[in-house]
Amino acid sequence: MYISNANQVITMAGHSDKPATKERMSEITVIENGSIWIEDGKIVDIGTDAEIREKYKVQLNAATQVDATGKIVTPGLVDPHTHLVHAGTRENEYAMRLQGKTYMEIMEAGGGIHATTRATQEASHEALYEESKKRLDKFLLHGVTTVEAKSGYGLTLEHELKQLEVAEQLQKNHAVDIVSTFMGAHAVPMDEKENPENFVTRVIEEMIPEVAKRNLATFNDVFCERGVFTPEQSKRILEAGKEHGLIPKIHADEIEPYAGAELAAEVGAISADHLLKASDAGIKAMAEKGVVGVLLPGTAFFLMAEFARGRKMIDAGVAVALSTDQNPGSSPTISLPFIMNLGCLKMEMTPEEVLTATTINAAHAIGCADKIGSLEAGKKADITIFDVPNYLTLSYQYGMNHVDTVIKSGKQLVAGGQLQ
Ligand code: NIG
Ligand code: FE
Repeated sequence: MYISNANQVITMAGHSDKPATKERMSEITVIENGSIWIEDGKIVDIGTDAEIREKYKVQLNAATQVDATGKIVTPGLVDPHTHLVHAGTRENEYAMRLQGKTYMEIMEAGGGIHATTRATQEASHEALYEESKKRLDKFLLHGVTTVEAKSGYGLTLEHELKQLEVAEQLQKNHAVDIVSTFMGAHAVPMDEKENPENFVTRVIEEMIPEVAKRNLATFNDVFCERGVFTPEQSKRILEAGKEHGLIPKIHADEIEPYAGAELAAEVGAISADHLLKASDAGIKAMAEKGVVGVLLPGTAFFLMAEFARGRKMIDAGVAVALSTDQNPGSSPTISLPFIMNLGCLKMEMTPEEVLTATTINAAHAIGCADKIGSLEAGKKADITIFDVPNYLTLSYQYGMNHVDTVIKSGKQLVAGGQLQ
C-alpha cells in the first residue's frame, strides 16, 4: 500500500524506547508532502512523496494507493484507558447531576458503578459482546486503532471473567486491538459495604489468581478513592497482582486528593490515571519513577470538576498521555479527538503535546510502544488520515470528527469517514 502526498505526515518518531517528557513531548516530526510505503501490514518506509516514488517506482503501479492530498496523516490513535465492555447507559444520573447531586452521592446510594454492575451482571456474554462491538466501531470511526479495556462491572469472579472474555473475543474478531486490564477493585459491592475487607480478600485470593491463570489481562487497576478503596487496600491489591504478573495501574486522585499518585510511584505502576487532585509531591514522585500520567479531561468536563494540572505535570517531567475514560457514568464519549481539544483548551497543553499524548505516550501507558504509536519502519501500519490541512486545525476545529481514513495493520477500514 502506498499512502501518497499528505500535506503533513506526523511520524512521532524517536520516542519508542521511553515515553516523551518535557520538551520532547513537542517533538512530533512533520514531513510535508509526505508518503508512506506499507507491506504485509507493516510500515516499510516514510519520506517525501518524491523520495517514496523514486525508491518504489517499480512496485508503484501495482500497489493500492490511498491519496492523502490536502490531508494529514498520524499514527492510529491509542486510547489507554476505557471501560469499553459494559451494559447500558446512565443518562438518568446525568439528569440528577445537572440538578446538583454529586457523582459520589449517586454511587453511595447504589447508583453509579453499582447500576452498571447490575446491568452488566444481567447481560449475557453475547449481549455484552454486541454492545461493546458497536462502541469499538465508533472508536475506529474516530481514528482509534488500539484501546485498553477494563473489567470492573462484574465484581464477582464469574462476571469479571465474563467481561474479560468478551474483551478477549473482541480482540480476536475485531480489527481494533484491545489490551485488557482486570479491575475487580472498581467498587465494593453494595451488600459488602459493611465489611469491605471480605471483598478485598476475594479480589486478592480468588479473582487475581484466576484472571492471571487464564491469561485474561495484562494490567491490574484499582479505584483508589475515599469511600471506595483506601491507599492501603489499593497497595495490597496492586502488589498481589504483581505477584501474578499483572502490571499495576491506578485510578488516582480523581475526586479527592488521596495520595494515589504517590502510591503509583511506590508500587511501580506503569501509569496513574485521572490525577485531577494529584499533589505536588505525587507529581514529583511520578516524574522520578517514570509513571505515565494518563489524563482524562472528558471526565472533568462531564463531572463539571476542576481539570488535572496537565501543564504542571509536563513541566515537572511527567510523561503525559490522554484518554477518553469511555464509561457510562463519568465520561460517555468515544471521541479521543475531542479529548485532544480539551487537553489544549482546559489543561494548557499544546497541539504538539496532545498528539504525543494520544499516540506514542498512550502506547507507552499500555506497554505497546515497540509496535504502535508512531510511524516508523517496522511498526504496525496503524494509520489515521484526518481531512484537515494541518495538525493545528485538529485541535482548533473542536468537537468534530475529522477522520477520513483509518488503516489498521495495512488494511483500509474507514474511507471517506465511513466503515468499509
Ligand atoms: O474512571 N472512577 C471510577 N471509574 C470510572 C467511572 C465508572 C463509572 O462511573 O461507571 C472512571 O471515572
Ligand atoms: Fe476509568
